[in-house]
Order: sequence, then structure tokens, then C-alpha cells
Amino acid sequence: MSISKAEYARRRQRLVEGLPPNSLAIVPAGREQLRSRDTYFPFRQDSDFLYLTGFGEPESLLVLVPGRGAGETLLFCRERDVEKEMWDGPRLGPERAAEACGLCDAFPIGDLDDILPGLMDGRDFIYYTMGRYPQLDRRLQGYLKAIEQAPGSCLPPEMVSLDPLLHDLRLFKSAAEIRLMARAAEISAAGHRRAMQRCRPGMYEYQLEAELLHTFATLGAREPAYPSIVGGGRNALVMHYIANSAPLKNGDLVLIDAGCEYRGYASDITRTFPVNGRFSGPQKAVYEVVLAGQQAAIDSIAPGSDWDRPHLASVEVIVRGLKDLGLLNGDVDGLIESGAYRRFYMHRVGHWLGMDVHDVGDYKVHGQWRQLEVGMVMTVEPGIYIGTEDGAVPEKFRGIGIRIEDDVALLKDGAQVLSAGAPKTVADIEYLMREGDLIQEALL
Ligand code: GLY
Ligand code: MN
Ligand code: MN
Repeated sequence: MSISKAEYARRRQRLVEGLPPNSLAIVPAGREQLRSRDTYFPFRQDSDFLYLTGFGEPESLLVLVPGRGAGETLLFCRERDVEKEMWDGPRLGPERAAEACGLCDAFPIGDLDDILPGLMDGRDFIYYTMGRYPQLDRRLQGYLKAIEQAPGSCLPPEMVSLDPLLHDLRLFKSAAEIRLMARAAEISAAGHRRAMQRCRPGMYEYQLEAELLHTFATLGAREPAYPSIVGGGRNALVMHYIANSAPLKNGDLVLIDAGCEYRGYASDITRTFPVNGRFSGPQKAVYEVVLAGQQAAIDSIAPGSDWDRPHLASVEVIVRGLKDLGLLNGDVDGLIESGAYRRFYMHRVGHWLGMDVHDVGDYKVHGQWRQLEVGMVMTVEPGIYIGTEDGAVPEKFRGIGIRIEDDVALLKDGAQVLSAGAPKTVADIEYLMREGDLIQEALL
């Protein structure tokens, strides 16, 4: 299961078709990042570059020149180096890289200064996104300056961001991409099931995190798509809690927001469940409101809905629920209009999902919320978070933080929840946690 060479070629062709004739696009690979002293973080390829090439090496750069068909496609990458390869592993080298990626030609990255300025000279536009790789930004600006100052030169090319064009392509997922994302979500769901089954009072949050990571790697997804959030009790109220360092307490809930990356594609799942396997009355009451809000949002996802519709659907159900629980007082429309509910539900319902966890693509077009269309993939993740010091709230509800997050693909035959393998009803969660040790055997 992967993206075919033909699909990469189609992506490049579609991008090139969107470029004006006398232009050129530059897409750099990711940079290796220092972790400490001389040790690097595991390398993660730049998503834009990976989308267009499938090439995994750093110190590379793709140049697209519009022309007939897919135009001209050029790669700059590292040369073979026996000594370095002995320490750091194999490099394809320009010739084999061009062949493997189906590109017209490839050159050593060390020749960039000799070749790229000549390709840029005389173009009307250079499509390149500034701000991500400052060193390369400076280098390209240097090329432009040299072009401008050359004797007899005309106007230098204008630099234009490539993002709008490229990211609009990435927003619409192909069948092959949906398959990879479905697999990513399936693996993550298995990780959440394992965490539910292994959870015990007294464990540390990071030990529960390890149960998810174990499943991700065992099932072929080596890396999480983002740092996992495992928050017991009030730690669930911290949206970006990643310390994961506290012990899990009997009687508390634990919120896990974790998803793997599978072959370049992210999944993003949140489940909230009782550390001891049984929801208390107040926990269950709040949980049911979030779940109903999430279901309403998922039900509203259809072609022709706009991006705001799932959010509004979740807000309406959650506001009613908070009112029924006595956490909000007043008329529902008024509470929505005034935003009074944001004390408990302070984020939006979701985001695009793809190669990046918060994937690319505009949410508004010409100032209007974007229409939902087949091929889009999004998360649906409402939550209720009740402060520990909130004196206006009955004590039994204080410190409860609940989010439920699924990955939803809009396909020809409707919205499909890719992450349905992770249980989310109270009954299903309690059953799995009770029967955990039996079911675990059949999992992997
Ligand atoms: N895990 C990040 C998010 O849910 O947006
Ligand atoms: Mn998440
Ligand atoms: Mn998310």
C-alpha cells in the first residue's frame, strides 16, 4: 500500500498546469534538526516535497519548469559518498534518484549555485514559499539580486508563494491517499484499544503513552504524527498537555489524544475514558453530551455543507447539554450568540487532516466558509473542559475534561469515519476495559 510513481507524476503535472508559462517552482526538502550537540532528531521529510516526489532524503530540492505535459522536472540531491554512507546509510545519488522518482533530470545539490540562477534568470515568476527555510530564502534572494545587477538585465523575476496552488491540491485526497489514511487511523485505533485495556490506577501517563507507541510500531507505523497527549484528571484541561508525567488516579478520567503517521499520512484520535474502567455518574453525564455533539457534527458532513456547519452542529448540542446539566443558564440561542459556552468548549470542532496533522488548505474562500467536497478529510473533535476552580459549577463536575476526536473522510457515498475502530460509547469502553485481557490476545 503506497503512492505509485504515476500518482506522483500526476501531482506534479497538475501543479505545473496551474503555473503561468514563463515561471518556475522551487520546492525544498526538509532540513535535519539538531536535538542536542551533535545528535539530530529523526529526519521527517517536508510534506510538500514528499507529496511531489516521494523522495525521502534531506538536502534536496525540486524544480518544476512549466512546458509541454508535466514540463521539466529537476531534482538536486546529495551525491553518493562511500564514507558517509558507511556511517549514515545509503544515498540514492542524482542518477538513481531521478530514475526512482520519474523525474527528467537530477544534479548534485553542490551544483545548485551554478545551475539554479541560470534557470531563474528571465522568468516572470518564481513560485517559492518564503519563511520556512531561512538559509535557502537568503540564497534565492542572493540569486535574484545577482540577476538584477547583471549588466543589461531586465526586471528580475517576481517571487510568489507556492502555497495556495500546492495546498489546494493536497486538500483533495486521492483513493490511494484515503487508503493510507484509513490504515493510519486503524493502527491508531488499535493503539487506543490497547491503552484502554492496559490502563490501571497508579500507572504513569507516559506508561500509557508507551502502550500506544508499542501498537503503532508493531503495526508498521514507527512514529506518532504529533506528540501524544495523555492527561489524567485535571491534566485533560490543558489543551496541549504533553508532559505526560503524572500518575493516573483511581476515579479520574484520562484523555488520550494520539495518532500515528503511516507512510507520510497522519491520523489524529482522542478518546477519554475512566482510569478504573467505570464512568462515575457526573463523568458519564458530561461524556454523553460531548458524544452527542460529536455525532451531530459528523452527521452534518456532506457535500454542500460548509466548513462551519459541523462546528455549529456540535455547539448547538453541547450548549443544550450544558444547560440540561445546569452548567449554563439562559436561552440556547442567546448562549450561542454571546459565546458564553466558550468557557467550557473553547476550540473549534476540527481541522483538515492529511500529510500534516493540521493539514494544509484554506478554510475560507473569498471570505466565505469553504464548501465541503468529496476527497476532503477532517477531524471532528468537540470537547467540554470544566475548570477545577469554577465556583459557578456544581463541585461534582469540576476538573472534568473530555474530548472525543475522530477522522472523517468525505467520500462519494458520504462521510466515512476512518477511526471507528476506537470504541467511544460508554458501554463499549466499559466493556472493552472489563474484558481487556481476553481481547488483547486477538489484537496484534
Ligand atoms: N492532536 C492535535 C489536535 O487534535 O488538533
Ligand atoms: Mn488530536
Ligand atoms: Mn485534531
